[in-house]
Amino acid sequence: MGGTDQPVHSPVLKQELLELLDLSQSDTVIDATFGFGGHAKAVLQQLGSRGSLIGFERDKEVFSHSISRFGDEKRVKLYNQSYGKMAELLSPGTISAIYFDLGICSFHLDHASRGFSFKKLQDPFDLRFAPGSSCEPAWQLVARSSYADLRRILQSYGELRFARPVARALALTERLKTVGEVVEIVRNIVPPHLLNKELARLFQAFRIVVNQELETLEQGLESAFHLLKPSGRMALISFHSLEDRIVKRYFRRLEKACLCPPEIPVCACDKTRTARLLNRSPVIPKEQEVDINPRARSAKLRAVKKL
Ligand SMILES: C[S@@+](CC[C@H](N)C(=O)[O-])C[C@H]1O[C@@H](n2cnc3c(N)ncnc32)[C@H](O)[C@@H]1O
Repeated sequence: MGGTDQPVHSPVLKQELLELLDLSQSDTVIDATFGFGGHAKAVLQQLGSRGSLIGFERDKEVFSHSISRFGDEKRVKLYNQSYGKMAELLSPGTISAIYFDLGICSFHLDHASRGFSFKKLQDPFDLRFAPGSSCEPAWQLVARSSYADLRRILQSYGELRFARPVARALALTERLKTVGEVVEIVRNIVPPHLLNKELARLFQAFRIVVNQELETLEQGLESAFHLLKPSGRMALISFHSLEDRIVKRYFRRLEKACLCPPEIPVCACDKTRTARLLNRSPVIPKEQEVDINPRARSAKLRAVKKL
């Protein structure tokens, strides 16, 4: 990043992503989750003067940092939109490569005051990438959810060991507003040695639901593949198993020539093979990268090439 007062985000699996994208100088590339443009900077170094990069960044605060850093770059066009909108803004079959680097930036944990970090106790328990959008803040979701809904959120999206008692305590709380209040509730239930892990899971669970991250990912994968030219490449870096499972299943489905159940003797579906997997097992960061950037430890990179 630029000056010392700039928020920092280290792009994860940068070299591995570039290798899988295998760019040419005149390519048109989409960065679906632009963030602070760490990956974009490396991609632009591979593109020539006729290449271009289109970026999507849902978070207004992050977007304004990106604009201040990339706004003068003529090869870059940035949208302050969810990547879920890409199909409405771009034409099918026109893009050479698309990549996603899912989740939050270090900026969200260290600088944004929207409850992304369970260490910032005074922050509102909000968790929205785009306040003002149709998404509701996490505190409002808690206030209107029943015990059963809260338990389902914590179990399905966070896999919390203490999902039931935490959900029960949240359901009994009136007008919860801050991160500190959430931390206090969990602290009263979870043993100290498991506290940080359970908090990280709880915050992940609510962030996923508040921002409808999994639905957006499913829709984004479809849109992105549709926008790719034949021989175009698509790559995703995910940070938890729920995302990785969606990506893995979607890519495997593209690769299959038939989706008929095994008991049907003759294929009756119209499916054809539309992509080739570029890696069967996900690429994960080397130890050196995790030592320098511990946030990279759960990253998984998968890629396909459109046929
Ligand atoms: C891990 S960061 C990307 C970092 C970036 N690759 C870099 O090197 O700076 C993920 C970014 O995606 C943004 N984001 C999350 N959901 C999004 C969505 N649906 N559409 C566009 N951006 C999204 C987040 O605000 C965050 O800035």
